[in-house]
Amino acid sequence: MFLDDVSKFLGDLFRPKPDHITVSSAPAPAKTLLPEKLPRHVAIIMDGNGRWATGRGLPRSAGHAAGTEALRDIIRASDDWGIGALSLYAFSTENWSRSKDEVSALMGLLLRYFNSEIDELDEKNVKITILGDVEGMPQPQREALVNAMARTADNTGLRLNIALNYGGRAELVRAAQRLARRAVEGEIAPEEIDEAAFSGELYTAHLPDVDLLIRTSGEMRTSNFLPWQLVYAEMVFDSCYWPDFDRVRYLKCLWEYARRDRRFGGVKGQAPERANSEEDAN
Ligand code: IPE
Ligand code: IPE
Ligand code: MG
Repeated sequence: MFLDDVSKFLGDLFRPKPDHITVSSAPAPAKTLLPEKLPRHVAIIMDGNGRWATGRGLPRSAGHAAGTEALRDIIRASDDWGIGALSLYAFSTENWSRSKDEVSALMGLLLRYFNSEIDELDEKNVKITILGDVEGMPQPQREALVNAMARTADNTGLRLNIALNYGGRAELVRAAQRLARRAVEGEIAPEEIDEAAFSGELYTAHLPDVDLLIRTSGEMRTSNFLPWQLVYAEMVFDSCYWPDFDRVRYLKCLWEYARRDRRFGGVKGQAPERANSEEDAN
């Protein structure tokens, strides 16, 4: 990465944020949140569309359609509040195992979503990245995704990552293959393969690790989502189904995150010391 790229990247992540976040309909304690307490990178597993619809006697596809409304609200809120990066799990490699009808309803919605939102997202300076195997998507969807990425490539606002045809293990295998290829070509020595080099081959290269993972629908698992990037993420589970998730619930998750004590293996209040010093050995 050139210096210009580095400063642009840092500028993107630390772009000016509002003084505080206010949501008028939020309950009193959740009214404001200081920007320094915000996660830099939020990941969301948008789950529960099917159950939302079934509970109303509707087809599962109606739940997915309702889910796109929540999606709009959460993307706008992230942009309004100055979140640096937002990664959304929209379709996993395992989701191909659903019925043909459901998969085609999801693919149709995806196309409609990109066609109707791209102008506004681009206007808002949002940079879209697809996490996952775009080549493995049907042609019309693939074209829409490639266009969205190309059109917003130079944008410097919210980094919006949408995981589509995404599998976490597949992402790790892909990174290993890309490094192996570079090693065979003499571009990198095997001993130079460290965590930074590995990170650089992931779909999320150049983004910070996930600080906060939110999953709706009450399920408490990661379902093959961002296994590398989530290692130190704080996790917040909301029992509501995704179509019922809105910016007030989102703000509550951010509040929960803000009061967590992140230690990264250290001890609170203690300055980190050098590990394995000679003194330790004696
Ligand atoms: C999440 O909702 C959307 C996708 C996986 C595409 P689900 O469709 O998984 O909804 P539930 O979990 O069956 O209720
Ligand atoms: C995870 O939800 C995938 C997405 C939200 C796109 P699933 O509904 O597919 O996950 P499981 O099957 O409950 O683990
Ligand atoms: Mg589900």
